[in-house]
Amino acid sequence: MSYRVKILPRNITLTVAPHETILEAAMAQGFRFPYGCDAGNCFVCAGSLESGTLNITTNDKQIRANDNEADDVLFCLAQPRSDCSIFIEGVLAPGEHKMINASCQATNITPMGNDTIEAVLRLPAGKKIDFHPGQYLQVILDKETECAFSIANIPNKERTLQLYIGFSDKDERSRRLRKAFTVGNVVNISLPHGNCYLKNPESTAPLFLVAGSTGISQIKSIAEQCVSAQTHRQVFIYWGTRTADELFLNDFFLNMAKENNNIHYTPVISEPDTAWQDRTGFVHKAMLEDHNVSDDAEIILCGSPGMAYAVLDDLLATGIKEHQVQSDVFDYAPRNS
Ligand code: FES
Repeated sequence: MSYRVKILPRNITLTVAPHETILEAAMAQGFRFPYGCDAGNCFVCAGSLESGTLNITTNDKQIRANDNEADDVLFCLAQPRSDCSIFIEGVLAPGEHKMINASCQATNITPMGNDTIEAVLRLPAGKKIDFHPGQYLQVILDKETECAFSIANIPNKERTLQLYIGFSDKDERSRRLRKAFTVGNVVNISLPHGNCYLKNPESTAPLFLVAGSTGISQIKSIAEQCVSAQTHRQVFIYWGTRTADELFLNDFFLNMAKENNNIHYTPVISEPDTAWQDRTGFVHKAMLEDHNVSDDAEIILCGSPGMAYAVLDDLLATGIKEHQVQSDVFDYAPRNS
């Protein structure tokens, strides 16, 4: 038996056996975890216990999340006694890139219709961009206000980041974003964030990428990664929007599918007008009508929490296993929170 330890603020999950300390498990599994002495002397590994119970090995004392000692726990001495959440800065999962803050210039803004823009940000010379396709960045408007956007391209030498942003003038934050994303302006960001990306990019198992609305940004980045890696894995992209004019990257994906035999693209419209002659209804139902999803297939869902959980339930009901399905939603809006 082992316990799941969620490490905040990065939202990374570590599996820890009862006889292991959290630091031991992290090191054994290739995490980067702050530590110095591994013996309770240096305090480098200190953080807080947010939920659950830990056992402190030096005195066999149990600490629970609301105890006074919970604010200052040394994880080199702490063994879990239940599933837990802990808070400690500076932890990186295996293969995870270090987070950076950067001031970028908005170099291109292109209207895409329906009050959506394509924005291109360029990082300053000398700032290396490292992220996994599928991750997102945070635009920092001020100390209290950050907005998350999926990165729509793959890392490149030009140090550019492509975003798709939908505006709503009813929303103050959206009005501020519209102003910030003007050609020539400096935009402050942090990246990379998120855990929803291809953990084994060399895999040749079928990959289903299912997006609702502007969730397509994340899908675009992962699809571009598959094309550039030339793994020839079969990639099935399903994009659902309300109306056909919201398919702002339709031509892009039609071309990608035309140029790559292993990429398949299906747009699905939920409120079609009479001109729409293609697929209609719920996007994931179209996917399930078209495919028997094999046990080794991966599915990535991008959309609102409501959409992601409704789709997850329908997928699980067909026998697809939970571990086959990834979504950022499962981290930032856990169902039982
Ligand atoms: S690593 Fe030194 S106190 Fe934990």
